[in-house]
Amino acid sequence: MNGEPLLQVRDLRKRFGGVQAVFDVGFELRRGEFLGVIGPNGSGKTTLVNLITGFVKPDAGQVLLKGRNITGKMPYTIAGFGIARTFQMVRLFYNLPAYKNLIIPLCSSRFKKLRGGRYGERDDVAIELLDDMGFERDSLVPYKVAGSLPHGYLKRLDLARALALRPEVLILDELFSGMSMSEVASTLPLLEKFNQEGLAIMMIEHRLKELFRVVDRVMVLNFGIKITEGSPAEVMASEEVKKAYLGIQVELE
Ligand SMILES: Nc1ncnc2c1ncn2[C@@H]1O[C@H](COP(=O)(O)OP(=O)(O)OP(=O)(O)O)[C@@H](O)[C@H]1O
Ligand SMILES: [Mg+2]
Repeated sequence: MNGEPLLQVRDLRKRFGGVQAVFDVGFELRRGEFLGVIGPNGSGKTTLVNLITGFVKPDAGQVLLKGRNITGKMPYTIAGFGIARTFQMVRLFYNLPAYKNLIIPLCSSRFKKLRGGRYGERDDVAIELLDDMGFERDSLVPYKVAGSLPHGYLKRLDLARALALRPEVLILDELFSGMSMSEVASTLPLLEKFNQEGLAIMMIEHRLKELFRVVDRVMVLNFGIKITEGSPAEVMASEEVKKAYLGIQVELE
């Protein structure tokens, strides 16, 4: 299953004024790999996602997808290459029915190419995808205006939107925050299924128990720097990681 890296991130760097948000962060992601990314608040996790997906331009460093340099390209170009993401702060078309939020990725040339030049019946494909996410197909939920749905539904809708692109790399930025235990429990197996089919997943998550159950490796950021990378057991045993998290507790007191 593993061959050459699908995604290579090399020495990415981004400064905002006096804040070094990301400093020389690098890692690789192979087809079918599941990478967890953790770190205290403000450690640069979302900035790293923004740098990879083109929402923020790096000061230095490179992002390669299948060996092709995609550094600093526009978000829609990078999405078209097959890197999809979800947002920590969900961004949706709140005035549209939930299923209509999937129409843009389902209209993409990427989707058309993968479907053999045919878009098919997009509304049906959208409803199908939402059904997989636990939006009951026979209920009114998929047809309700997105803005009227509870937060957990919006997070799952955002995931469906990303998956509609049929990505090769999926980046999840705190997908589980705002989801109920049962929503997390039903979403995890879905992610594992896509992952087993070859989808490479990079998952930022504060809910460590759930994260450590599914990932192969974990990368830890602190103050924009990658402090370690290893198996969940290795990372949990790391003194540096304990110190990074302890620092947060002290700050909160
Ligand atoms: N657009 C921006 N302008 C200025 N500073 C920013 C910007 N984006 C992020 N930062 C700063 O960069 C640092 C890293 O922020 P980032 O959002 O990447 O952290 P994070 O690890 O995702 O945190 P959280 O766990 O709270 O989501 C923080 O100090 C943040 O205030
Ligand atoms: Mg963040």
